[in-house]
Amino acid sequence: MSTPSAGAPLKARIAVIPGDGIGVEVVAEATKVLRAAAAAGSKQLELQEFDWGAERYLRDGVSLPAGAEQMLRRDFDAILLGALGDPRVPSHRHAADILLGLRFKLDLFANTRPVELLAPQLTPLRDRTEKDIHFIIFRENTEGLYVGMGGIFKKGTRDEIAVQEDVNTRKGVERIIRYAFQYARQHGLTRLCMSDKSNALTYGHDLWQRVFAEVREEYPGIESSHFYIDTLAMELVRDPRQFQVIVTCNLFGDILSDLGAQLVGGLGIAPSGNINPEGISLFEPVHGSAPNLAGKDLANPLAAVLAAGMMLEHLGWQVEAAGIHAAVRASIREKQTTRDLGGSLGTGQAGDWLANYISKHGL
Ligand SMILES: NC(=O)c1ccc[n+]([C@@H]2O[C@H](COP(=O)([O-])OP(=O)(O)OC[C@H]3O[C@@H](n4cnc5c(N)ncnc54)[C@H](O)[C@@H]3O)[C@@H](O)[C@H]2O)c1
Repeated sequence: MSTPSAGAPLKARIAVIPGDGIGVEVVAEATKVLRAAAAAGSKQLELQEFDWGAERYLRDGVSLPAGAEQMLRRDFDAILLGALGDPRVPSHRHAADILLGLRFKLDLFANTRPVELLAPQLTPLRDRTEKDIHFIIFRENTEGLYVGMGGIFKKGTRDEIAVQEDVNTRKGVERIIRYAFQYARQHGLTRLCMSDKSNALTYGHDLWQRVFAEVREEYPGIESSHFYIDTLAMELVRDPRQFQVIVTCNLFGDILSDLGAQLVGGLGIAPSGNINPEGISLFEPVHGSAPNLAGKDLANPLAAVLAAGMMLEHLGWQVEAAGIHAAVRASIREKQTTRDLGGSLGTGQAGDWLANYISKHGL
C-alpha cells in the first residue's frame, strides 16, 4: 500500500463524454477502473455523463451544445472522452464540432501522447525491450492545418480548386515548444527533438525553426535536436532509444502518434491528454470510434484506461494514477487482455479484471 500524495485534492468532478462506436464501450471500462482506483485511495470521484455524439446529433441536430465550454470550465476538474465518428455522419460534422470545438474553445494546446513499451512482446520491432521505447510526443493542438481555414472553388468540376490553410502563430508555436522543454525539465529528461518540414514549408515551418532556436537557449541542460518529419518517422522505427521528448505541429503529431502507438502494441493501448495548463484538460484514447469493432466486445479498453490514469496524474492523484498503471502492466504480464494484445478477454472482462486487480491489491 502506498500513502496518499501529500496535498492531493480529495475530490474530483469529471465530465464523461463516451461519444460514438467503441468510445462508449471503452469509456464504460475506464470509468469502472477509475471508480476502483478512487475507492482504493479513499477519494471522492463524481462522474457526470454527457450524450454528445452521433446519436444525439442525428436526433436533434445538436453536436456541442451552446455554452458547453463555459459549463465544463465552471463545473468540472477534467474531461474524459471516448471517441467521435459515425458512418451515418459522413461529413464528420458532429465530431469536428465536439472534438475540435473543445480543443479550440478550451484552448487545449498541448496534445500529450506518451509512447511507452509495457512488455517486449508488444512491439513489432526486433530485440527491443521496455527501456528502448519510452518517449512522449507533444503535438500542437490548436493550429496548423486543422483550423479549418480554406475553401473549395468550382466544386465538382474539372477546374475544382481546394485550399486548406496551414496556420502557425508565434504564440502558438512558442507555447508548445516551451511546454515540451518545461515537461522535460520537470521530469528529469535530457533529450528533446523538434520536428518540422522547414525545408519544404519555408514560411510556416521557418517560424518553428526560429522559435525553437530561441527557446532552446533557455534550457541549456537539455540536449535539443531537430529532424525533418520524414527522417524522424524513419528514425523512430530504426532506433527509438534516441528519443525522450518530441515536439511537432498538429498534422505531424497526429500521424507520428499512430506510428508511436504501433511501436508499443497498437491503438488499443495508446492514451493521450489535451492539456491547457491554466484551465480544464481533456483525456482520451488516441484511437477513434472504430465502427468495424463497435458492438462486438472486441475493443481494447487499455488506451482509455491509461488516458484515465493520465487524467488522475494531472489532477494530482499520483498514487491512484500509479495504481492504474500497475494494473495495466499486470494485465499484460498475466495475459488478461483483449485479442489485439494476444489475450482472449472481451472489452468488459478486460475492464473487470483491472478494476478487480486494483480492489484486491490496493494502490
Ligand atoms: N479522437 C477521436 O475521436 C478520433 C480519432 C481518430 C479517428 N476518429 C474517427 O473514428 C472513426 C474511425 O476511424 P479510423 O477507423 O480511421 O480509426 P480508429 O482509430 O477508430 O480505428 C483504426 C483501427 O485501429 C484498431 N483499433 C482502434 N482502436 C482500437 C481498440 N481500442 N482496440 C482494438 N483495436 C483498435 C481497429 O482495428 C481499427 O480498425 C472515423 O469516423 C474517424 O474520423 C476519431
